[in-house]
Amino acid sequence: MLERGRQLIDLREYQLNHCDGKEDESHYSEGVFRLRSEVAPAQGLILATPEYHGSFSGVLKNALDLMGFNEIEGKMIGLVGVSGGRMGALNALNGLRVVSRALHAWVIPEQVSIPEAWKEFDEAGNLQDDELRKRIAEVGRQVARFSYLHTSERAQEFLRAWEGAPVNPGANSQE
Ligand SMILES: Cc1cc2nc3c(=O)[nH]c(=O)nc-3n(C[C@H](O)[C@H](O)[C@H](O)COP(=O)(O)O)c2cc1C
Repeated sequence: MLERGRQLIDLREYQLNHCDGKEDESHYSEGVFRLRSEVAPAQGLILATPEYHGSFSGVLKNALDLMGFNEIEGKMIGLVGVSGGRMGALNALNGLRVVSRALHAWVIPEQVSIPEAWKEFDEAGNLQDDELRKRIAEVGRQVARFSYLHTSERAQEFLRAWEGAPVNPGANSQE
């Protein structure tokens, strides 16, 4: 845990199995169930990935496949990508947008792609450029903002009224 309400998940620490789609999951590692139980209560997620051969990493795709609607549906998602080359991680981010939609998540419009990432981070992995740091923080801010709006009592009230309202009022009216 970084601090209350925030958690950094580094997929290297979970020893994830390859998703095999079988109903019997008794052969799955403890890490698979830990990952699910840590992601499920989150209101928002920031997915960060390197650009690998024109897409996001297979490790992240496997992690998303090991999860599903229970963990991801209805969540706000922010995207951050890094690439070794000059083109940036846009293909990775676009791929994640498509996959997040399939998981019925809400992906915010702000995103950050860091090209030539090897130039931007120091030995300890800290981002050097203030502008980039601000843009990443903004992704976090927007995820927090929309997660809150999506789950606040007023929004829930609106959604209940919306769902309870007639689908097409006036459609059968004679006027
Ligand atoms: C399997 C693999 C595929 C990669 N494919 C791309 C790619 O298509 N485009 C690109 O710009 N960088 C590519 N890279 C470089 C990574 O994006 C880069 O290593 C990553 O951003 C992390 O940066 P670092 O290696 O400096 O830590 C690839 C790296 C690996 C290991």
